[in-house]
Amino acid sequence: MVSVGGMTRDGEGTEGMSGARPPRRPRYSGKNPRKFAEKYKEHRGDGETLSKVAAAGKTPAGTHRPIMVDEVLQVLELEAGDVVADATLGFGGHAAAMLGKGAVVHAFDVDPVEGPRTVERMRAAGYGEDVLLFHPVNFAGMGRELAAAGFPEGVDAVFADLGLSSMQIDDPARGFTWKENGPLDMRLNPQRGVSAGKLLAGMSEEKLVKVLTENADEPLAREVAAVVAGREFAGTVALAEAVRAVVAPVYRLRVGGDEEVQRTIRRVFQALRIEVNGEFSALDAFLRALPGCLRAGGRAAVLTFHSGEDRRVKHAFAAMAAGGGYYVADDQPWRASVAEQRANSRSTSAKLRWIERVEVDDA
Ligand SMILES: C[S@@+](CC[C@H](N)C(=O)[O-])C[C@H]1O[C@@H](n2cnc3c(N)ncnc32)[C@H](O)[C@@H]1O
Repeated sequence: MVSVGGMTRDGEGTEGMSGARPPRRPRYSGKNPRKFAEKYKEHRGDGETLSKVAAAGKTPAGTHRPIMVDEVLQVLELEAGDVVADATLGFGGHAAAMLGKGAVVHAFDVDPVEGPRTVERMRAAGYGEDVLLFHPVNFAGMGRELAAAGFPEGVDAVFADLGLSSMQIDDPARGFTWKENGPLDMRLNPQRGVSAGKLLAGMSEEKLVKVLTENADEPLAREVAAVVAGREFAGTVALAEAVRAVVAPVYRLRVGGDEEVQRTIRRVFQALRIEVNGEFSALDAFLRALPGCLRAGGRAAVLTFHSGEDRRVKHAFAAMAAGGGYYVADDQPWRASVAEQRANSRSTSAKLRWIERVEVDDA
């Protein structure tokens, strides 16, 4: 049997993925593999290797560690039989936790590579189509999709964990990382739209300043745009190096200058990724559709990872509450515990906000 977040439908503990004979050990220098493709033991789900990697505070290659799972379950207050829309299936960690509460999960994901893989793994773990239904579409269309699935009045809970999964970030072939070279792609759905490389090659300096500022609050947007807008890059490393060449002299004399350079590179990649995938317009459409997706008494929770996302969720929830019929418990978002932040650095920027559609008593 195959594990999903260490959980199976019958609750048995598992030791990761089993199956085909492992490939021969690829050659790599040093004690541990550094490249994504070389981490074959992690890809294979070797239990001992996974434990070692997790103990070192890292996410095993080809997996994703779900963030703030306990808090998400706490705010959604699921009961057995509740119907949940998980807008962002990813590796299925949150979905598995919801299924563990006896919920029926309608899961969405636009990624045609990782989405079906996750569903396959979850099916092998015992979650059949009676409890886990997969919608391989953009969550912008969630309202229509749920209505077509028989929920025109909405479902008991809606959840979204925005951004990318670790599988997507770490795989150089997807073009999200500059730690290993890959094509400058960055599409969540590589079968649609335009790659980051093409987008950048056709982008004016002015437009790139706007993209870097609006999508990532990049303070050196002008300097970066002046050098990279309208250019073609051989791959992710070439773009990262071009950005480094612009900003390193600016930060050279500052304490922690190297980290500042890394942060700028990260923000440039974030801004392009958001643009390539139209992430803000998809999120705006999702938030507009949310009231129609939530039945009376239902709750929605959204995990965000940067200010552009959080601002949108915060304002949308405030507008829903101001219009009446919704309740927002906290003005401040929930954050991952110190222990989780230590164990998983990807949780440090997470913010969780939630809202409840109030049940109106007609009596
Ligand atoms: C952070 S991961 C979710 C991880 C998941 N909660 C887990 O526990 O494994 C975000 C996922 O959302 C998907 N995604 C991002 N934007 C989307 C959109 N507009 N519509 C549908 N899926 C989207 C990505 O492909 C990715 O798989």
